[in-house]
Amino acid sequence: MTWHATVLTLFPEMFPGPLGLSLAGRARDEGLWNLDAHDIRAHGLGRHRNVDDTPFGGGAGMVMRPDVIADAIASHRPAGDPRPLVYLTPRGRLFTQADAERFAAGPGLMLLCGRYEGLDQRIIEASGAEEISVGDYVLSGGEPAALVLLDACLRLLPGVMGGAESAEEESFAGGLLEYPHYTRPAEWDGRPVPPVLLSGDHGAIRAWRRTQAEDATRLRRPDLWAAHLSRRISGRQSPQDMTGSVATASAGP
Ligand code: ADE
Repeated sequence: MTWHATVLTLFPEMFPGPLGLSLAGRARDEGLWNLDAHDIRAHGLGRHRNVDDTPFGGGAGMVMRPDVIADAIASHRPAGDPRPLVYLTPRGRLFTQADAERFAAGPGLMLLCGRYEGLDQRIIEASGAEEISVGDYVLSGGEPAALVLLDACLRLLPGVMGGAESAEEESFAGGLLEYPHYTRPAEWDGRPVPPVLLSGDHGAIRAWRRTQAEDATRLRRPDLWAAHLSRRISGRQSPQDMTGSVATASAGP
């Protein structure tokens, strides 16, 4: 069945954007997923189609009205729609690969993108939306975050990527950063490729890549490294996972 994304936004023309190109674009042409984006302003109030107002309690910026958002959701979310409703916000829980896997395994997503200071808290609670952030920085709106989240989900849909990459996805469970990659020429600008990669010794190459992945994770992402160590200690990791790395999953063409 076609994986279906619905986006509610003040800027529907931002979609599908980059998702209409490359791997995701081809998969959409093949009918593996589809997307419809709807303008929240169509549900705005009065002659000016107002969607926001000043915050109770004072402060900077504008807040998107709960009645407007409720009407937008009701208009595009059929009763009993099984798709998770996600609100993109820097106040949300951090998006992870595990979320992408969970969403990709389901029927699709409905995404709510806010602008300004965001949505009135009551519609977030009333709608049961899951609040998700794509990183510890503030974007000018939820739209780029929605594109990031969708990209991470779409590449996991069956048939979107080649078989090889899909198999490599398994190694995400290892929770390590990726080892570095090299290609021809064997020496470039006075910089040789690490000799082990030219040795033909597959055991040595595997061990080298493993050490590189571990060193990078320990130095760059102590949070991932700590989680990796605690999994290793508790024996929750299979030997196959141990050879893998987070970014072994290739980004595609
Ligand atoms: N909207 C603004 N910043 C965001 C972020 N970091 N993640 C998700 N939605 C956002």
